[in-house]
Amino acid sequence: EQVAVDAAARVLDTNWTGRHTVPATGLYPHQWSWDSAFVAIGNRHREPARARAELVTLLDAQWADGRVPQIVYDVGRDDDYAPGAGFWRSETSGLVQPPVHAWAAWLVHCADPAGSAREGFFASVYPRLVRWHEYLHVRRAGGVGLPVAKHPWETGTDNSPLWDVALERVPPEARTPIRRPDLRHAGSGERPGGRDYRRYYRLAEAYRDAGCADDLPIGFAMVCPLFASVLAVSELALARMVTALSDGGGSAPSAAGGAHEAAAARVIAALDKHLWDEELGLYVALDDTTGERVHRATVNGLVPLLLATPLAPGSAMGPEGAVGVGAGRAERMLATLAGPGFLGGGPFLPSTSREDPAFDPALYWRGPAWFNMSWLLQRAVRARGRDDLAARLKGHFTVAEPEGFPEYVDPDTGAGRGTRQFSWTAALTLDMLL
Ligand code: DGY
Repeated sequence: EQVAVDAAARVLDTNWTGRHTVPATGLYPHQWSWDSAFVAIGNRHREPARARAELVTLLDAQWADGRVPQIVYDVGRDDDYAPGAGFWRSETSGLVQPPVHAWAAWLVHCADPAGSAREGFFASVYPRLVRWHEYLHVRRAGGVGLPVAKHPWETGTDNSPLWDVALERVPPEARTPIRRPDLRHAGSGERPGGRDYRRYYRLAEAYRDAGCADDLPIGFAMVCPLFASVLAVSELALARMVTALSDGGGSAPSAAGGAHEAAAARVIAALDKHLWDEELGLYVALDDTTGERVHRATVNGLVPLLLATPLAPGSAMGPEGAVGVGAGRAERMLATLAGPGFLGGGPFLPSTSREDPAFDPALYWRGPAWFNMSWLLQRAVRARGRDDLAARLKGHFTVAEPEGFPEYVDPDTGAGRGTRQFSWTAALTLDMLL
C-alpha cells in the first residue's frame, strides 16, 4: 500500500501548478471543476493547505451570476485542449459540472480544522458556495424542480447513453472547425466519436452565442440523478458549515442551516418522485424538453444510494445519509448494484450497465469503470453497513497504481484506458488508503 500512496502523491505533485492541479498534463492541461473537488478530497490527508487552495482558486473564477465554471483556462501555460479560451472568448468555459464542491470543502475542513480556521477557509468559501447552489436552483431549475444540464459536458459523463436520445435531436453540424488534440493522449476507441463532437460543439456554440444566458432553450436540457444527488449532499455540507461557522463565532445566519437542509430535502423528494425507474431498479435521467424519463441503466442512477437512510454506526464521516430516499428503493438499488449489470457481472463497477445495448468496455462513459464512481458508491454502501460491497469497491483501487493511475479501466480486466497519471484517480486512491 505504501508504494501506491507514494506513487499517488507523486502524480498529484507533478500535476500541481502552484495554484491548482491539472487533471492530466497532456489531455487536460487546465483546471477542471469537479476534478478539483476530487483532488482536494485526496490531498486533504497530506497537503491540507493545498487542498484548500485548490477549491479557493476554482471559486476565484466564479461568475457574477454564481456559476462555477467547468474549466478555468491556464491560458499562458498550455493551449493544447479544445475547445479553448478562444472558443469561449473568456478565461473560463461557460458551462458547469456536478456540484461536488461544498461536500469537498466540508471533507477538506474536517481533515485539518485548525488550519481551516486559521485561514478562514469557511468564511471564504461558504458565501460563494451558497451563490453557486442558488445559480443551480434558480437559473437552472427544470420543470420538475431539479437543475438541468445544458450540455453533456456538464453532466461529467459526456457520452453516457442517458444523453443519446436528446443528442439525436441536435444536428451534427458546427461552425467551429473541430480539433481533436485529445486523440493524441487516448485511443480513439476510448473517446467520444466525431458525430458526438460535432453535436457537442453545436450545443456549446449555441450556448456561447446566447451569452451563456439560461432563459433561452438551446436544444439540450437534462436532469441527471448523479448531478442532483451530489447537489443534495453538498447542501447538507453547507448546513454543517453553518453550524461550524456559528460555533466559531462566524457570521453565517443561524436560519441558514435549516434552509440548506430544506433545499436538500426538496432535491431528494423531486429525485424520488420523478427519476425512479421501477423496472431497472435505479434512478434515471429525465429529458426536460419532453418530460420523458430515459429508460437506461447507468452508474449515475446508483449514486442516489448516497442519500439512503439509515446510517450505520461509524459513518459520520460526511453529510451523506442524513436524509434519505425511501428505504425500499435503497434495497432495490443495492440489489441492482450487486446484480449482473454491475458488480455481479464482472470484477469492476461499469459506468453503463453490462446489460445495456450500448455497453462498451473501452468507450469512456459507456462501460469503463471510473474511480470516482467506485469512490462515491463505496461511501454509500459503507454508510448502509454493506461491508461486502464496500470491500469490492475498495478493491478497484488495487489496479490504480499498477496501471499508472488511469482515467478509467476496462470493467472486466482492469486494464487502464484513457489517459494515465490522472489526478482524481491518484487523489481518490489516497483517500481510500489513508
Ligand atoms: C473532455 O474533454 O472529455 C471533458 O469531459 C470535458 O470536460
